[in-house]
Amino acid sequence: MTEKESFPELPEFSIEQLEEGVQHVNNPIIGLKPIEKVYLQSVVGYTQQDNSFYFSDGSASVEIRVVSDEIIRVRLAPHGTFLEEFSYAVPKLEQRATVFSFKESEESYRVETNTVACLIDKKDFLISFEDNNKRVINSDFSTMHWEENVDFGGYYVYCTKRCSPDESFYGLGDKPTSFNIRGRRFQNWATDTYSFARDQDPLYRAIPFYIGIKDDVSYGIFFDNSYKTHFDFAHQDADKTSFWADGGELQYYYIHGPHMMDVVKRYHSLTGTHPMPPQWALGYHQCRWSYYPESKLKSLAKNFRDRKIPCDALYLDIDYMDGYRCFTWNKKYFPDPKKMIKELLDDGFRTVVIIDPGIKVDDNYWVFKEGKEKKYFCRRSDDYFMEGHVWPGRCQFPDYTNPEVREWWGTLFKGLVDDGVAGVWNDMNEPAVFGSGSFPNDVRHQYDGHRGSHRKAHNVYGMQMVRATYDGLKKLFKNKRPFTITRSGYSGVQRYSSVWTGDNLASWDHLKLASIQCQRLSVSGISMCGTDIGGFTGEPDGELFTRWIQLGVFSPFMRAHSAGDTREREPWSFGKEYEDINRKFIELRYRLMPYIYSAYWEHHKYGFPILRPMVMLEQDVPLNRNREDEFTFGDKILISPVFEPGQTSKMVYLPKGRWFDYWSHEPMEGGREHDVLTPLDSMPIFVKAGSVIPEWPLMQYVGEIDLEEIKFQIYYSDYEVNSFYYEDHGDTFAYEQDIYTEKKFVVKGDAGSCIIRQSSEGLYTPRYETYELKLIGLPFQPSKLIIDGKEQQQSLNFDELKRVVVKANKNFKEIQVLR
Ligand code: GLC
Repeated sequence: MTEKESFPELPEFSIEQLEEGVQHVNNPIIGLKPIEKVYLQSVVGYTQQDNSFYFSDGSASVEIRVVSDEIIRVRLAPHGTFLEEFSYAVPKLEQRATVFSFKESEESYRVETNTVACLIDKKDFLISFEDNNKRVINSDFSTMHWEENVDFGGYYVYCTKRCSPDESFYGLGDKPTSFNIRGRRFQNWATDTYSFARDQDPLYRAIPFYIGIKDDVSYGIFFDNSYKTHFDFAHQDADKTSFWADGGELQYYYIHGPHMMDVVKRYHSLTGTHPMPPQWALGYHQCRWSYYPESKLKSLAKNFRDRKIPCDALYLDIDYMDGYRCFTWNKKYFPDPKKMIKELLDDGFRTVVIIDPGIKVDDNYWVFKEGKEKKYFCRRSDDYFMEGHVWPGRCQFPDYTNPEVREWWGTLFKGLVDDGVAGVWNDMNEPAVFGSGSFPNDVRHQYDGHRGSHRKAHNVYGMQMVRATYDGLKKLFKNKRPFTITRSGYSGVQRYSSVWTGDNLASWDHLKLASIQCQRLSVSGISMCGTDIGGFTGEPDGELFTRWIQLGVFSPFMRAHSAGDTREREPWSFGKEYEDINRKFIELRYRLMPYIYSAYWEHHKYGFPILRPMVMLEQDVPLNRNREDEFTFGDKILISPVFEPGQTSKMVYLPKGRWFDYWSHEPMEGGREHDVLTPLDSMPIFVKAGSVIPEWPLMQYVGEIDLEEIKFQIYYSDYEVNSFYYEDHGDTFAYEQDIYTEKKFVVKGDAGSCIIRQSSEGLYTPRYETYELKLIGLPFQPSKLIIDGKEQQQSLNFDELKRVVVKANKNFKEIQVLR
């Protein structure tokens, strides 16, 4: 099998094929050639190799591969020869299906697992997927087709599916539009979009994965193709959903649900999850373009500590460098970076620096010299270097799709790491070039030995840059966890980095978009995401900034950032009234830190998204298909942020079951809407009945205080609810060797008792010995407490909010609180 570039040979068509309807014209230059798309013809036979079945129409071939019980991959080879297996998104396609069957009938073939069946219609070569109740979940509208024609610019592959009237769609990464994307059309082509607008497309990332819900059943389509891809969700035609690419192979995974959560977890099983970030990375981060010189950064740090506003990370944007040369310092602004970073760290601040891919063309600059000598920079088709202007002026750009270049790039961080830098922010990696936008399509890339032009490599360039950064830092940090952020990325980028949504705007609509984009990223595989709090360009007023801080508390990654030509944007910049509220909410983030960290573990280990939109919580409730204003963080805390100026109350829908108002601890009935007050110093937050929510004592930064005890808020429930809690060293990879504690709590009550059970796994032993458990919402005044069979003598009086506090050893197995 050979790798073909984007212009394969034109096919030859038999007279029979021509008569069967492939449309052709007589071209005076190259004779008969198709000007329209070529469709698969009837199936003439099949072969099987392990878990793959190859169906042929005489010239084209289609592979149906059973990946697991719920995942089936489809590939098309128009001329019968498949490209060599290679994907940046799916590094290793593990074979997980053990049992499957194959049946042939007069009309069709059927490849079936315990959960799904893939049917291939013999006459039309139409492919469809059924669940094990024989319900068709997803089916071709027309057969897969392609186009290879110089007049039309090359080679395109297409897939068109049927779309039913009630079908809704989600996913595709960072699209700044309504959460349900039915009726819309998109493309994936990573683009630097300064001050982007609602509905603008494309933005910075390329995530060709979507989720459909048809008749209450969720399924996913992951179109693993790094070329420019296009999606149409019943926009052009209400009964069609199409996806196509400007090159490469038509290769997609059908991922079965039936719940949206199953689909996302299975997508993670293909493309990976985020590794555990260092715990400090979950604190509050302060960024701006740019904090310099050193005195400015120091006074920023002092302000945080003097004002008692928690903060874990301060950022250096491009001005810390010498003439924007990556891996250098501007010694005028930062004369002794090592000393400065150490002093900041002593005060609990980590320093994160920006890095861009553009390397200044300067023969006196070591990075450029090395890159040039080693031939690590990208070249055009005529072998001339790819040059473009970015911050430093004339630049050349490493080819991160070359493993040797990635290795080299990783070593370049040595100086910064020796100086004490704790995290690296990867920017402009779409790649962005001033004037032209990006690289011309003819730029050549090594593509890990599967050479290709920029048409193939563009969408993965940023991901490979941050991969090189992450892997390099990991080696330099030894056993410590690196922290990286990236602006661009392709599916699977979550294995290497967190993501922020780029250059947004200080407006109320962007605040709402920020919430939608984070939810969308979360169901698209990228859980560790955040937005520039306050908006990057433009000027927020105090109210907007504060509402954004409130949303930020429940963004997996929480960072305020602003453009250089805006007014200062720190939590205290808008006056005392706002400062106090901002402090209260940033403190909330720190109190909830163990809950937030546990949600990260659930993501990392089990593939749960961190943010869960309403449609994922209750897929069967039709109104939830378009509900985009609320979500849960993890599976216990529901947030309904405020997106309107001056809003004093809002209607909040709570899913079925029982809930508690986080602030007042008032019990609330789910399955309906509630009118909730929204004064500026509050935001609607609800906790599921039965939840066990861990809390830390207030800290100014992660690790400031050694825990002597851990507190849990336990919300009474009369039906059984599981919660879990995760803990580890917070900054090493020991968790990969099972050095962690994962605790499971089960809460169940009735009119006269509340029982809490705990089980634990993992090898990590925290230093503290006791728990303080606060029981909320007990329907009775307790009088008896039994821990692991022994009655305890503790005061069980209700406080003013009818809560009761119980102390227990951290290893308890069962607590009974009785009337
Ligand atoms: C880009 C980034 C922005 C950064 C600026 C300067 O616009 O998106 O976050 O501050 O470049 O480096």
